[in-house]
Amino acid sequence: MNLKIMTTAGFFLLLTACMSTSDPLGPPESAWADYLSWYKVTPEAETGDPTGFLGSVHDGTRAFRQIYVNSVGEPVNRGTRGFPYPPGSILVKESFNNRAALDSRRNPDLTVMIKLPQGQSLETGGWEYVRPDGARGNGASDLAAFCRDCHLFAAATDYNFINSVFYQNNR
Ligand code: HEC
Repeated sequence: MNLKIMTTAGFFLLLTACMSTSDPLGPPESAWADYLSWYKVTPEAETGDPTGFLGSVHDGTRAFRQIYVNSVGEPVNRGTRGFPYPPGSILVKESFNNRAALDSRRNPDLTVMIKLPQGQSLETGGWEYVRPDGARGNGASDLAAFCRDCHLFAAATDYNFINSVFYQNNR
């Protein structure tokens, strides 16, 4: 096993492992169990750093990533409805370490964003963040701040970096 790949894969978790996390405000994991049937924002997996904000998170620039949105958030993501995303929207991102892992769908890391009912977690613009190990970040927790502080660069599109319009314009 390639040490470099293992190191990159573990980095995201390691980086956030000691942070305070939150009790869930959003739905349980079963809410995105069938995400593969959702609208795929990235018809082809993206790699590198198309937004310029990735740094070393989400398994780094060598990873291959695919993003999905549920039916609640789909119209906003596809640009047929304006921002912000309505409560109940869920964005799921799969990160694969490399092309071979993508092709065989081997061990994707899942990171998730859930739009909470209006008025909750104002610190994060109403989003709950879910780390690959299932830990939740909302409100004033360290994990919420960690995810929010970078996703804030996408504040103009409700903290969502890659939507269908971005993908079309930058592929
Ligand atoms: C240093 C910046 C940074 C941090 C920290 C970060 N992200 Fe992201 N995230 C990105 C970028 C950039 C994208 C766009 C897709 C890509 O390039 O892979 C993204 C995409 C996503 C997406 C897909 C929707 C979208 O906005 O495109 C989800 C879901 C997501 N991140 C969840 C999380 C969670 C959960 C955390 C915290 C555990 C987190 N992110 C922390 C930079 C970051």
